Amino acid sequence: MNILVTGGCGFIGSNLVRYLRRVRPEWKLVNLDTLTYAGNLENLIDLESDPGHVFVRGDIGDREFVEKLLREHAIDSVMHLAAESHVDRSILGPEVFVQTNVLGTQRLLEASRQQGVKRFLMVSTDEVYGSLGPTGAFTETSPLQPSSPYSASKTSSDLLALAWHHTFGLDVVVTRCSNNYGRYQFPEKLIPLMVVNALHDKPLPVYGDGANVRDWLHVEDHCQALLLALEKGRAGEVYNIGGGAERKNIEIVKAILSLLGKPESLIKFVKDRPGHDRRYAIDPSKIKAELGWTPAHTFEQGLDETVRWYVDNREWWQRVMSGAYRDYFDSQYSTRLQVMG
Ligand code: NAD
Ligand code: TYD
Repeated sequence: MNILVTGGCGFIGSNLVRYLRRVRPEWKLVNLDTLTYAGNLENLIDLESDPGHVFVRGDIGDREFVEKLLREHAIDSVMHLAAESHVDRSILGPEVFVQTNVLGTQRLLEASRQQGVKRFLMVSTDEVYGSLGPTGAFTETSPLQPSSPYSASKTSSDLLALAWHHTFGLDVVVTRCSNNYGRYQFPEKLIPLMVVNALHDKPLPVYGDGANVRDWLHVEDHCQALLLALEKGRAGEVYNIGGGAERKNIEIVKAILSLLGKPESLIKFVKDRPGHDRRYAIDPSKIKAELGWTPAHTFEQGLDETVRWYVDNREWWQRVMSGAYRDYFDSQYSTRLQVMG
């Protein structure tokens, strides 16, 4: 099997590439990533000389380039993760979110259709459902009510993928997961940002009253679910993926401080994020019943391991945050980048 993973140098993508190399070593993985600030080859340094992983720098929105890539590598299936992924950035500058998440996805879908891709896995998000009150959980049939430019762009791409199935017969499976955490997450998202700030004894900015709830999913449990959805999911179906670990933001921030032995006086409540969704919670019964998925990590154990990883990998986050690796790899990979000639 030849698989195109888009966004394979980002947080979830790099964990997915590493996971697939481990559990499906016979597959060839082509990793298409344009290397934005969030994409770092450093995340996959251990696979640098692995012939089963081919990195190609390029934009999902470059239709001609993508078609050529699909053809030359005889791609069977696409796992589409490339996106602009941060809500706060989408509030500051929404346009690139529409460009990449909406237009980029549409072009990738069309290239996949033209080249006869057999399965297209669209990695979407629970944020398409908007915000919950204090009770209940999102099911696959909950109404789509995105609040932020990020979630609106993801809802658009999610629906475009389903439209390419219904209208053009492309074999599409959509997954909608909750907030991921784990290794290699860029330190702009809640957990790594708080760890990095605490390690520097800098204030930890908690939006609003800190009582917003997210349903945390370990990235490796997510990767396992994505493989199941790719291999066993039914075409045209949507699968929710959630870790069953609802926590208030403030609880997480306090747990991180406690793990690091830092004082709670570092917590700083700041102005709330505009349009801030109050609560997310996922009902994952469909993927559990149909595909036999079960998450292996408990949140407390996963958070502990994750915090420790950031403590032990200070060099990694210092480098990705400064962008230093991008220049280095630009020169290192210049020959491989010409793979498309
Ligand atoms: P990320 O920001 O860490 O990585 C995104 C990757 O996409 C980067 O490597 C970036 O370089 C690449 N990319 C961006 N624009 C591109 C383009 N035009 N062409 C090719 N590559 C491009 O994101 P992540 O957290 O790993 O999320 C991966 C996917 O999962 C996204 O689609 C996101 O919407 C979805 N998702 C993430 C979470 C989460 O908690 N992180 C939750 C739900 C859904
Ligand atoms: P984030 O990691 O940005 O993910 P998302 O917005 O996609 O859920 O944020 C998770 C939660 O943490 C969200 O409720 C916003 C909150 N948050 C803060 O309170 N302070 C911060 O500095 C950040 C980045 C997030």
